[in-house]
Amino acid sequence: MSQPKPLSRETQADISRWITRECGVVLGPDKAYLLEHRLSGLLKDFSLPSYEALRDRLLDGRQAGVTERVVEAIVTHETSFFRDRHPFEALRAAMLPAARQRWLADRAASLLPPRPIRIWSAACSTGQEPVSLAISTLEWLRSGAAADLRPADFVIVATDISARIIKMAREGRYSAAELERGMPADLRARYFTPDGPGWVVSTEVARMIDYRRVNFADAALASVGLFDVVFCRNVLIYFDEALKKRVVEEFWRSLPAGGLLVLGSAESLYGISDRFQPITMAGSPAYQRL
Ligand SMILES: C[S@@+](CC[C@H](N)C(=O)[O-])C[C@H]1O[C@@H](n2cnc3c(N)ncnc32)[C@H](O)[C@@H]1O
Repeated sequence: MSQPKPLSRETQADISRWITRECGVVLGPDKAYLLEHRLSGLLKDFSLPSYEALRDRLLDGRQAGVTERVVEAIVTHETSFFRDRHPFEALRAAMLPAARQRWLADRAASLLPPRPIRIWSAACSTGQEPVSLAISTLEWLRSGAAADLRPADFVIVATDISARIIKMAREGRYSAAELERGMPADLRARYFTPDGPGWVVSTEVARMIDYRRVNFADAALASVGLFDVVFCRNVLIYFDEALKKRVVEEFWRSLPAGGLLVLGSAESLYGISDRFQPITMAGSPAYQRL
């Protein structure tokens, strides 16, 4: 196949608009090179002669494979275990104790068994974040901080737009290099088993995590459920303001008064929502639902 014509401004604008509608990610005109670079391989894979042909496929929406591959080519899945460390320390030191207080109050107020304590890892990529949340919770229980709770009293719902990434996360297999990025050796020994050249997460950890595919940009973003804590880190930064507001509104609906939202270190709710109070928990910033 001959070299396609360069991506024109008009086609770039059409494809960028389609991407924002499909997954929320905003690509300004300054991202033309990135777009061309990431999409050029797809022209070959789908035997398309030009970027215009790719745009037409996206706009007629009949070839689901192309849609998914374009979204895959655009979103970044960069992640690591215990990324930024402090939010996980705050989880153990302050967020889980606060959730436990609510759980104890629910138990005292009802004859029915209380609902589990629920944490949402929203935009979880290949699972390093929910696995870190599960391990932090298990370590907190091991420390004897909550003799009334067991691992079965926790559910971590982990969601991402990418079906391929969710499948990988569910398998729970990580290379030695991935584990070296953030997983301390003692926790690796406790919560992973050697598996060929890499490692696989223990059943104890896997049992706590419920992986699901959720696209924040779906017009009918269905409620994912009720949570005590939501971690949504390093994804809102890619969205336009309207989608940021819509997603944060969904978090507000998913949390009780006093429930906690944790964003990425470069993200904030400034100008997005005044329905959360910025707070510091064990030295780490978080937002408390009003
Ligand atoms: C940079 S990773 C962040 C992973 C993890 N939260 C962390 O901080 O390490 C961003 C993730 O957001 C997901 N994502 C992008 N757009 C999305 C959307 N519209 N709905 C749900 N997930 C999305 C991507 O697939 C990717 O796995």
